[in-house]
Amino acid sequence: MRLPDEFLDAIRMSNDIVSVMSSYVNTKRTGRDYVCSCPFHSEKTPSCHIYSESQSFYCFGCGAGGDVITFIRLIERLDYLESVKFLAQRAGLSMPEDSYNDSGANKRVRLLEMNREAARYFRDVLLSPEGKEGMDYLIGRQLTPNTIRKYGLGFAPEGWHNLQYYLRQKGYTDDEMEEGALLARNNNSRYDKFRRRVMFPIIDRRGNVIAFGGRTLEKDAPAKYLNSDETLVFQKRDNLFSLNFAKNTKEKCFILCEGYMDVIALNQAGFDNAVATLGTAITPSQANLMKRYVSEAVISYDSDSAGQKATVKAINLLGEAGVLARVLKIPDAKDPDEYIKKFGAESFRQLLSATETALDYEYGKLKSGIDLSVPSGKSEFLKKAIPFLAEIRSDTERTVYTSETARLSGEQSSVIAALVKDKMKYNRYSDRRAEEKKLISGAVKRDPINPDAAAFPAEEKAERGIIAFLFHSPDRLSGVEAKLSDEDFPTEFNRRLYIFIKNRIKSGESLDISAIGGEFSAEEVGRIIGICRQGDMLPYSVGRLEEYIGVLLKHKEAKNSKSAAEMTDEELLQRVEEMKKKRQSKG
Ligand code: UTP
Ligand code: MN
Repeated sequence: MRLPDEFLDAIRMSNDIVSVMSSYVNTKRTGRDYVCSCPFHSEKTPSCHIYSESQSFYCFGCGAGGDVITFIRLIERLDYLESVKFLAQRAGLSMPEDSYNDSGANKRVRLLEMNREAARYFRDVLLSPEGKEGMDYLIGRQLTPNTIRKYGLGFAPEGWHNLQYYLRQKGYTDDEMEEGALLARNNNSRYDKFRRRVMFPIIDRRGNVIAFGGRTLEKDAPAKYLNSDETLVFQKRDNLFSLNFAKNTKEKCFILCEGYMDVIALNQAGFDNAVATLGTAITPSQANLMKRYVSEAVISYDSDSAGQKATVKAINLLGEAGVLARVLKIPDAKDPDEYIKKFGAESFRQLLSATETALDYEYGKLKSGIDLSVPSGKSEFLKKAIPFLAEIRSDTERTVYTSETARLSGEQSSVIAALVKDKMKYNRYSDRRAEEKKLISGAVKRDPINPDAAAFPAEEKAERGIIAFLFHSPDRLSGVEAKLSDEDFPTEFNRRLYIFIKNRIKSGESLDISAIGGEFSAEEVGRIIGICRQGDMLPYSVGRLEEYIGVLLKHKEAKNSKSAAEMTDEELLQRVEEMKKKRQSKG
């Protein structure tokens, strides 16, 4: 399965990491290198660095890092070979034949082709006499033929085996259909999951049909919309409906809606920047996905209480992802779809331009129901406002709302500001206490990549030091090997890494990251880059290396002496001889 180094080099040469990453995130030049907001965790200030010289990236916030192949593995959620293939395609290179045998990628391709075939089938039915009730329904909802075509809408007819028999004819097996969530199962019989429903294909940002949503035509059906279960090619939490269109918008914000029909109605009315989650509340990874394309979002949820609750959640998640959230209040209609039908697109555009920022929205909620003309109302308001103000990170924004609070409460701004400052100080103190408590109680997360590290902190650090050394000075290997054997590395992960590096150095192979990517998971690669970078900061004195080796030797001795009781007589004698020799050489 191993790809030749020359081929991996060619992949890296022809996929410049800066340009690849720039197509996913906004990158900014700083000197020779680039920084960006890390696409793998939520952050406000960019801490992901891209090094064009070494063609690698490293996030100082979350520890993700690696070469361009690792980046693609993480961001596209592909495995190693799929990522190499992805980049090969991007650069127009062909894969070396014998090494390319990846059933995972083939399966994905097959499921995606099957989904496209299914979408074609549903569309053809919609346009045929059999789909008349579906078409009547869509026309009743004022969709134009153009919109219906643009979204590839379709109809799943009544009956249990329509799609199944159609896809069989096209060469797909029932197992594949079940795996693609197109068939449901009852004991041993399998049947079409979507029946008598208007079908909405869910299309990812690369144009693949990854799943479906189906709307019932029955009035009181238990589930109005039925969505595909998750499959190899579909994760709800990572996708947004209509992102394939919205990603190309000229607008600087997305409109986040609850429903498929809202998004489609908005598109028809000229708003190509509308997206919706897929039958669930917004997730952190959807918020991060939005952040890749826009810095602002207008939340446009239903005006009912469920919609308003979801709004608060979305504000928080978007804020954490660094997307400025504004909230659209929709008067006299239950959702954007209904609003546009009643009042037209122009009126909706006006609503949009009058949206509040998330802060306005939250602040507005603070004062609702409070009578500020009586003293008790005033103090009730201040009790809520001060903790709220203390949580605002930006100084300018905090000042704006402080003065607004002063105005509403009739107090002096400087008094409010002082109260807020005290509260902020207290918050910092209690955050620190909580942090300390966590440390003391051992609730700190165990290192998932190297779980042994918790038990051997000093040794683990020494291991990393030795490994970093070898990355930078492979010629030191013989010195290390003379003193340490593989088993002397106490933590499993670092031992594995050491053995890997040792073997590569011995066989004269390069130690660059694309070679490592084939042997380690994407998360592990991030750690390894971290170790390398740590090496950049090490002074390369041999004394330092000896210190690290010493730590591991001491550990070995302690380990051996502990197990003396379990030694056979022979081993024990041997050990005694060893110790004698040591004495002699010293004395
Ligand atoms: P709504 O019930 O608000 O749908 O659900 P809607 O857009 O107003 O539906 P129409 O206008 O009557 O057709 C919003 C979204 O929640 C998900 C769907 O993604 C829907 O678009 N949903 C809703 C489900 O997944 N299942 C359901 O049973 C209902
Ligand atoms: Mn609706």
